[in-house]
Amino acid sequence: MSFLSATLDRVKPSPTIAISTKAAELRASGRDIISLSAGEPDFDTPQNIKDAGIAAIQAGKTKYTAPDGLPELKQAICDKFARDNGLTYAPQQISVGTGGKQILYNALMATLNAGDEVVIPAPYWVSYPDMVRLAGGTPVIAGTTLGTGFKLTPDALERAITDQTKWLIFNSPSNPTGAGYSWAELQALTDVLLRHAHVWVMSDDMYEHLAFDGFTFCTPAQVEPRLYARTLTTNGVSKAYAMTGWRIGYAGGPEPLIAAMRKIQSQSTSNPCTISQWAAIEALTGPQTYLAENARLFQRRRDLVVGMLNDARGITCPTPEGAFYVYPDISGCIGKTSGAGTAIVDDEAFATALLDETGVAVVFGAAFGLSPAFRVSYATSDDALQEACLRIQRFCAALR
Ligand SMILES: Cc1ncc(COP(=O)(O)O)c(C=O)c1O
Repeated sequence: MSFLSATLDRVKPSPTIAISTKAAELRASGRDIISLSAGEPDFDTPQNIKDAGIAAIQAGKTKYTAPDGLPELKQAICDKFARDNGLTYAPQQISVGTGGKQILYNALMATLNAGDEVVIPAPYWVSYPDMVRLAGGTPVIAGTTLGTGFKLTPDALERAITDQTKWLIFNSPSNPTGAGYSWAELQALTDVLLRHAHVWVMSDDMYEHLAFDGFTFCTPAQVEPRLYARTLTTNGVSKAYAMTGWRIGYAGGPEPLIAAMRKIQSQSTSNPCTISQWAAIEALTGPQTYLAENARLFQRRRDLVVGMLNDARGITCPTPEGAFYVYPDISGCIGKTSGAGTAIVDDEAFATALLDETGVAVVFGAAFGLSPAFRVSYATSDDALQEACLRIQRFCAALR
């Protein structure tokens, strides 16, 4: 009898860890490494938010809270949904968790039974399929193409839905591609969902505020109010307010689902960190001006990276609408041999050789379910991005 749970057999170790471990080892051995693999903003939490956390500690706000959040934070989240998304939620329809990740996980744990399917467009955030498997469900991957900017088409969604489908996980702007769906593109998908009354939508809006070129963010329950009763709208403060380490995510949705998620959280983490909850209240209710400033900064970096990558031989890099990632296609590099003699048989070989030969760390596309490609996070300084892209250009130019 195995000591470890059979559940673990259903879950893969994170494929991104191999490359980040290797990058860390090379750096420790003295190599000049530029990592383009971070999933978080490279700047600090704004001062007013840090001050709110410090004030909470000083005021002794350091005890347990209700399992799924302080009433004050739930109200701030209701106000945020009304202000930014035109969505009306009452406080009892709000759940606060330890990061967006725990919210998604709670929702899957609260709803999935063996045999239930969850449609996940690829490329996807690496955690979705494994969280579905951990919760006992079956991920059903719906592919996208470079041609649609890696966006799910209504046909592909229709084909992926079966009688067993419980959820569609929808993520816009996307990790790893940065693709953001316009109102019309999203409506084409919600039209499909209207025809399948048993399918719920888990909308992961984590990158809402990182949108460029005047792109207007929208979310499924807003675009199609008839889906409101079967939509969980999830979000968090991690990326928008540079608060990844504070661990606060949240969702609005139907009360019975929120109650089920509360039950799971009450028997796992009890409640998200109290101090972080007070800081999140300040994030959501305080000045919002840095959101637009950060988006402008990231847009400039996106333009730098997309321009330089498209100048690299064999790479085609679409210009995404948001987040801080790009997802260049490397079909033109596969089957070649690197300057140091490595056969580039797939995108993992490409990323490994790129790291070995140039010191640039990226995450290969297979980790996100769509190859051949790689993900660049441009949440790093302009100088580092410029140098990394130059090295990628040289690496590609040397492929034979
Ligand atoms: C698409 C997406 N959703 C959710 C999360 C989780 O965010 P948090 O750090 O709040 O758990 C991430 C983090 O990388 C993400 O990229």
